[in-house]
Amino acid sequence: MKIAVLGYGTIGSGVVEVVEKNAASIEKRAGEKIEVKYVLDLREFPGDPVQDILVHDYSVIAEDEEIGVIVETMGGTKPAYDFVKTALLNGKSVCTSNKELVAAHGAELIQIAEDKQVNFFFEASVGGGIPIIRPLNQCITADEIEQINGILNGTTNFILSKMADEGADFEDVLKEAQQLGYAEKDPTADVEGYDACRKIAILTSLAYGKQVDYEDIYTEGITKITASDFKYAKQAGLAIKIFGMSKKVGSSVYAMVAPQMIGSGHPLYSVNGVFNGISVKGNMLGDVMFYGAGAGKLPTASAVVADVVAAVKHQGDHVPITWSSEKLEISSVEEMETRFFVRVDESEKQKIQDVFGEVQMIDAGVDGECGFITSGMKEKEFAKKAEAFAQLITRIRVMGDE
Ligand code: HSE
Repeated sequence: MKIAVLGYGTIGSGVVEVVEKNAASIEKRAGEKIEVKYVLDLREFPGDPVQDILVHDYSVIAEDEEIGVIVETMGGTKPAYDFVKTALLNGKSVCTSNKELVAAHGAELIQIAEDKQVNFFFEASVGGGIPIIRPLNQCITADEIEQINGILNGTTNFILSKMADEGADFEDVLKEAQQLGYAEKDPTADVEGYDACRKIAILTSLAYGKQVDYEDIYTEGITKITASDFKYAKQAGLAIKIFGMSKKVGSSVYAMVAPQMIGSGHPLYSVNGVFNGISVKGNMLGDVMFYGAGAGKLPTASAVVADVVAAVKHQGDHVPITWSSEKLEISSVEEMETRFFVRVDESEKQKIQDVFGEVQMIDAGVDGECGFITSGMKEKEFAKKAEAFAQLITRIRVMGDE
């Protein structure tokens, strides 16, 4: 099988490396030898052996009948969407790590793959090297999925873990993460939660078999989390993580990306550093948890190449993926129930009980303010109660031990 890799960045070069390093075992599993015939990139790579197979013109790949599988690791939707669509229409399977592409066009590309009896696989688009797409699509098929909770972004988990360990503020840890190469120069997509939003949109689409538009998902990043928040969290024995979550309550599906405080009893409490963790709750299965390297060159490339192996094994046979283009309505988060950690100015302490009733006060020794955790209430109830405070410093949701 001759394959082509679109984009020779971190993941694309990882794919070439994995295919070469593990050639023998991959051949055994795929049933035939896999060879990278082309790499597409606008750049030159003098001195790198890939230079010999480098092309700058996509049509060379799209029109080569010898190419059966195309790996797309360019990121973004332009020109990835056009390239992938052309590949599928030309009867080639595609394996991608590109969550922007999958979140925006997944249903359509799956349909084209079905029409052409080829495959569109995207295991690496969520959770890097962690198998989660195939388990959702092919393993947890006897269950109704009730809930997905995921630490889906390695960069923000690294930052929050370091803030917890060092008592440092967000901006300082972000700078360090950028120096270490963990965070991008423009960290917006990670720290504002947009990356996790696309990932939970993909997982939720797979869980319910319909298109979830990521624009419909309430998304809050980690830029407002401070060292003081961690003082309270530590005092209360809680961790602060940013979660992509979705859950089905009756006929309503809720989805959200937001920082959450979680207790040590939660299976995702100890997912630290650049690692990702995803827990899925099925109505028969109960909870299952997936944990591992959610980003990085070789772990992500490993998932992409596993998709290539599957595509080679399934030549001429489309593996169905339950994700139709019918839109899944996401219910308003205002109706979601949760507990809240709240910080208010000390001058408003006497109001706390009047407004929120019984709360759990946390004494973290932060001057001039009070921190407490409310009982469970709807988001809209909380918003209304919060109006009673002139100086509500912050609020972070507290996840139950579900
Ligand atoms: N920026 C992403 C992360 C890369 O930090 O998790 C993997 O999707």
